[in-house]
Amino acid sequence: MSGISSQIEDLRAQLRHHEHQYYVLDAPEITDAEYDVLMRRLQKVEEENPHLITPDSPTQRVGGKPREGVAKAAHSSPMLSLDNALDEAELRAFDTRVKELLGGAEYRYVAELKMDGLSLATRYSGGMLQQAITRGDGSIGEDVTENARTIRSLPLRVDADRVFEARGEVIMSKRAFERLNAEREAQALPRFANPRNAAAGSLRMLETAVTASRRLDYYSYFLLDETGGPLFDSHWESLDWLATQGFKVNPKRRICANVDEALAFCREFDVERDNLPYDIDGVVIKIDSIPQQQKLGYTARSPRWAIAFKYPARQVETEVLDVLVQVGRTGALTPVAVLAPQVVSGVTVSRATLHNEDEIARLGLQIGDRVLVERSGDVIPKVVRVTQEGEVRRPFTMPAECPVCSGRIVREEGEAASRCINLNCPARLKESIGHFASRGVMAIDGLGDVLIDQLVEQGLVKSVSDIYSLTPEQLTALDRMGPKSAANLVENIAASRNMPLPRVLSSLGIRFVGERTAELLANEFGSLDRIAGASLEELQSAQEVGPKVAESISAFFREPHNADLVERLRAAGLKFDHLVKKKEGGKLKGLTFVLTGTLPTLSRDAAKKLIEDAGGKVSGSVSGKTSYVVAGEEAGSKLDKAVTLGVPVLTEAALTALLNTENS
Ligand code: IVH
Repeated sequence: MSGISSQIEDLRAQLRHHEHQYYVLDAPEITDAEYDVLMRRLQKVEEENPHLITPDSPTQRVGGKPREGVAKAAHSSPMLSLDNALDEAELRAFDTRVKELLGGAEYRYVAELKMDGLSLATRYSGGMLQQAITRGDGSIGEDVTENARTIRSLPLRVDADRVFEARGEVIMSKRAFERLNAEREAQALPRFANPRNAAAGSLRMLETAVTASRRLDYYSYFLLDETGGPLFDSHWESLDWLATQGFKVNPKRRICANVDEALAFCREFDVERDNLPYDIDGVVIKIDSIPQQQKLGYTARSPRWAIAFKYPARQVETEVLDVLVQVGRTGALTPVAVLAPQVVSGVTVSRATLHNEDEIARLGLQIGDRVLVERSGDVIPKVVRVTQEGEVRRPFTMPAECPVCSGRIVREEGEAASRCINLNCPARLKESIGHFASRGVMAIDGLGDVLIDQLVEQGLVKSVSDIYSLTPEQLTALDRMGPKSAANLVENIAASRNMPLPRVLSSLGIRFVGERTAELLANEFGSLDRIAGASLEELQSAQEVGPKVAESISAFFREPHNADLVERLRAAGLKFDHLVKKKEGGKLKGLTFVLTGTLPTLSRDAAKKLIEDAGGKVSGSVSGKTSYVVAGEEAGSKLDKAVTLGVPVLTEAALTALLNTENS
């Protein structure tokens, strides 16, 4: 090697080492400025010797400054997309082409669901996840290794020692998506349009802690060796092998002897897809034999051995007959389009949400117009656009009074929603009871929507607190209520009296006060009365409470109806005090913990609660101030960093032992 080449290689090796320390291990050994000096030195030598530039040189990351935002990384072999078949005829045409190109040989297909997320390439060597790259333009993607490490279903370690690359789809389940949007709504943040956008946004976060909180999932569907070649003779075997290495491989896949069987699979899942926990937008059909795949080869864009059978967009054109207004728990009025019923892939659509007045204005929609309506997954149908203005049309105006209780409607500055401000509005009451009884709040099993409707309509419940005086006799008189379920429900309602203060606080449905804020407030103030009596400044002294949240809390308790509800709940015997075991005293007082990996018995939340209840703090990142790192299965870079920094590492058992030692 010439002097120059070895100088270049040496600089590259140093830079790679420091990038690894920084990005993968999160343990830089040099300052940013020192790194920049090395980088500039390499850039200079490469500029003078352009023939020595290689794509894997650290200078070749776009922008040359990997630290700003997300770093780019090159794919080992291009990540191609698939050709689409939009109907049966196109799928059959694909099959005919395959048959011709294979010259009469026998062949079979593997049919898999086409999950609607974003593709990710994950490279392993020495049994470890080395790098995760998004698809990008197919040649260069974004290095999201640290973010990808937070995905629980992506193995960080595998048995196989060899170099290989698994490609697959990062998705967000429908449930995680709904939860995320509900949280965002509570914080007055915009909703994500669909699970795919939510997954993409979450994976590409600069803050990996945020990615971790988003509950992403990864399914693998493709396997390559280091040269981009195969490891096995058949695709099916590759999938099985991926599964043995700990990857999630979608079990909903099938070997199909011919195109008819593949079509049957497509039809089956078109019906089934509403019941799947994640979105799919089609089926991918691949030739199973790898030698045959190689024989078929690739066009510039896509493989000739696979095709994506796309489900038709679930859109339909129909007429807007009317616009109704629904009242939610917070009193928000949601305009809903009443449509001339239309069947969209087997489901009759007769309503679509219009979200709010601004959305109606954006669409330019009036009653009488023809519109395009879209149904996606099991989400409420929505109006995509106006296709034709009605000959007779009239604009929608938000009612001046609540359509349910005739109460006053207010639209506050800077808000999209108009609200009914009557707290006793039956529509709000029903929604409030539903919220009160829901799982994450007072968790009253058996108090569902159908029952709530009856309770409110028959005047048995006029305030949420009235549920605590319901008798089995009253309940048995209702539809679909036997003596046994009535007795159970009364028991479940009574049991909810023991719910701790954070749950009681979130049961009130104060805007911006979800589970987490409620917990923080309860810990800070120790009792509902202290929270209700706190000034704006005092409220803001609690963690994560800003002016907006403080104002919302304060306004809630100032409102006389709410104050009344609070008194009724007190009289019903709910817990208004919080046993704060933490802070003053506590075995773990003054200690900071970082949790990483999967613990054998405790969930992340449970471990956090144990530590906090004992007065300790839980932080998201390891630093010199960390007292202990608690590590479980598949612990990632935090464990490496703890070792580097000499922070003691505990197992779950050691943590429990620490908690159970006699108080000093
Ligand atoms: S195979 C060369 N299998 O659909 C093989 N793709 O345009 C290429 N996708 O970008 C991909 N589920 O993100 C394959 N079971 C599956 C898939 C799948 C979803 C996505 C993938 C790709 C796009 C095809």
